[in-house]
Amino acid sequence: MTGARRIDEIIQQNADRLAVALENHMRTSFMPDARKELRPFTSAESAEFLGMDPARLRKLHFDNKIPEVAMDSRGRRLYSGANIVEIRRVLETQSRKVGQFLPGRRDGDRIQVIAVANYKGGSSKTTTAIHLAQRLALRGYRVLAIDIDPQGSLTTMFGYTPETEFQNGGNIYDAIRYDDPIPMQEVIRKTYFPNLDLAASGLVLAEFEHETPRALNERREPMFFKRLGLAIDQVEADYDVVVIDCPPQLGFLTMSALIAATTVLITVIPSMLDIASMNQFLQMTAGLLNVVSNHGASLEYDHLKFLITRFEPSDGPQAQMAGFLRALFTDQVMTNTFLKSTAVSDAGLTQQTLYEVDRSEFNRNTYDRAVESINSVVGEMEELIQAAWGRN
Ligand SMILES: Nc1ncnc2c1ncn2[C@@H]1O[C@H](COP(=O)(O)OP(=O)(O)O)[C@@H](O)[C@H]1O
Ligand SMILES: [Mg+2]
Repeated sequence: MTGARRIDEIIQQNADRLAVALENHMRTSFMPDARKELRPFTSAESAEFLGMDPARLRKLHFDNKIPEVAMDSRGRRLYSGANIVEIRRVLETQSRKVGQFLPGRRDGDRIQVIAVANYKGGSSKTTTAIHLAQRLALRGYRVLAIDIDPQGSLTTMFGYTPETEFQNGGNIYDAIRYDDPIPMQEVIRKTYFPNLDLAASGLVLAEFEHETPRALNERREPMFFKRLGLAIDQVEADYDVVVIDCPPQLGFLTMSALIAATTVLITVIPSMLDIASMNQFLQMTAGLLNVVSNHGASLEYDHLKFLITRFEPSDGPQAQMAGFLRALFTDQVMTNTFLKSTAVSDAGLTQQTLYEVDRSEFNRNTYDRAVESINSVVGEMEELIQAAWGRN
């Protein structure tokens, strides 16, 4: 048997080679400067983030009411993420309406934790979660994104390679594990986006699923469903909104997120198969939540919402299934939908969102339609957040 090799060795070798190749690929094709950076925004985009028309933004500059920003070679203003944060701060101090430019929490407001879940893979969980997190940040909320999918797609979207970077620490597992968890502050990192931090994922997070049954047997405290919530509590004062991207399965990690959440957002593609799968998800979730509530889990929600994703209104069967969902779940279905768009999937190919890519590289109509669709979804979510804080 000389020369025979074991399958585990071969797989390990392949995995190691792939990890290094992926890392190189990411560095050379997407991040020549080793890390992702945020492009500057145009004045039209910045005005829209700030909720005003471009003429008003120009006037504010003209009147010296807000700090000046860089210009391109043709004399057009370019706004960095930091510029937008600073302008918000200045405008808020000048505004008569409290919270107009800094809409986040005030005294007594509970932090909003939005878990994006469904156990169907490909239902746009990660894509929705990252657009939600980025857009809320651009709108002036202090946002923490938490990736609890061991596959780390959200982490990858932020320009990291979880396969190689967080093998030995630095991810959310470290804050929720049973043995010597570390403070949540130590696993959170800043991102290239203003107002947006990340608790990254890594493959090691899968250990949580394996360790939990034993921990339950040994009656270790805190129990699994409290651990993520307790980690969030440690940094609660630093954020207005937390967005959690869940794995495509109903394991202990997803359960932890559902229990930590104040809003559960279930993404669903309006197709027969996806809706049937969602039915199973709902049945199982209800059963499991019932069990953990008997063990002291708090199940108080502000909102449970279904979001129709990858929607093609011109597709007859899809439109029909969307109508079916609305008839069934009425106002639990978000009014706005996340349209299916090549702008979203093309941006995704290079690990980017609609807010990160340059509009000029896309067909304008396609891009604008996609951005409008996700902006309206996030706008509706903002209303829910404000409503949870007793404002409208
Ligand atoms: N609205 C959309 N339009 C077009 N493609 C989309 C849209 N949302 C997601 N996708 C694409 O579908 C794939 C799966 O989406 P993803 O967000 O990773 O799903 P999940 O996290 O639920 O598994 C990705 O390639 C993504 O780019
Ligand atoms: Mg995902």
